[in-house]
Amino acid sequence: MTDKPLITKAARLSVAPMMDWTDRHCRYLHRLLSREALLYTEMVTAPALVRGGALHLLDFNVEEHPVALQLGGSDPKELAEATRLGGAHGYDEINLNVGCPSDRVQSGTFGAVLMKTPDLVAECVSAMNEATPVEITVKCRIGVDDQEPRDVLPDFLEKVSAAGVRRFTIHARKAWLQGLSPKENRDIPPLDYPLVHEMKAAFPDLHLSVNGGVTSLQQAEEFLAAGLDGVMIGRSTYHNPADILLGVDTQVFGKGHRTTAEQTVLDMLPYIENHLAEGGRLHQITRHMLGLFTGRPGARMWRRVLSEGATRDGAGPDLVLQALGHVSDIAA
Ligand SMILES: Cc1cc2nc3c(=O)[nH]c(=O)nc-3n(C[C@H](O)[C@H](O)[C@H](O)COP(=O)(O)O)c2cc1C
Repeated sequence: MTDKPLITKAARLSVAPMMDWTDRHCRYLHRLLSREALLYTEMVTAPALVRGGALHLLDFNVEEHPVALQLGGSDPKELAEATRLGGAHGYDEINLNVGCPSDRVQSGTFGAVLMKTPDLVAECVSAMNEATPVEITVKCRIGVDDQEPRDVLPDFLEKVSAAGVRRFTIHARKAWLQGLSPKENRDIPPLDYPLVHEMKAAFPDLHLSVNGGVTSLQQAEEFLAAGLDGVMIGRSTYHNPADILLGVDTQVFGKGHRTTAEQTVLDMLPYIENHLAEGGRLHQITRHMLGLFTGRPGARMWRRVLSEGATRDGAGPDLVLQALGHVSDIAA
């Protein structure tokens, strides 16, 4: 395990895996905003890859590196095969989902319900580790249902790290598997950041990232300054990508990459043209760009022009430029 290349540097700031949101178009946009942050795919289930043969789910743009594939599953053999496929496709990391509470996922015995069976998770990551030289990581919760996080989480980290995982992302709240929707499970169970700090003190050699409820880069920097190894940001990045990601390279990574939301839109145009030339639709890309100017004059018109126009037949780069014209700096 120690001879695996670690992408720990990029993991200081990552964009969370989000189903239906962090697809390849979204990740391409995020990569233009930050060259350094680690990007995660949506969860891809091992059965979809191994039994369903849905290898197109593994496609990504080379520009996305460093990029991690998130897998869902609980069968060690199947996960090993899915991992092998992901590694062969060129992903920089393969992550196991132990945090997703949705019904569909529970019925397949994967996601957050695996917090109850750390031995099985250990078996899974061990099989995954053997299937690829790529680093295997885990994204987990602090517990589920009536589990006591201060008992469960250290035991989980102990067992899973003993099976060869050095890097974890902890969504700092429980998942309540009965009675809450997946969306409610991202808001209602209370956040317990102190527990994540306690885990860092108890496991100083593990790389631990905190996730859940981080809404600004400043908040992320405070976690890093307090000794955590990484911060993963989901919804705030998606809804407000420029605000979160534009400062990342200089503030978190000490690198010089600077761009603007406007320039990023212009940089998206060749990508959009390619996508349209391949028979894709404008909306598939621009739906991820709606939040680029959040909080700025013209943001509402930017959103409106794109949301109303991008699904129409023939919509293309002209519409994007028209929408951009409503953002104040450009109009001026
Ligand atoms: C639309 C949506 C889809 C999500 N899909 C996944 C997923 O596929 N895998 C996963 O581990 N977490 C998933 N999550 C949870 C996020 O990765 C993250 O843990 C959660 O949103 C908390 O972080 P945040 O407060 O920064 O958004 C999803 C969240 C959202 C909003």
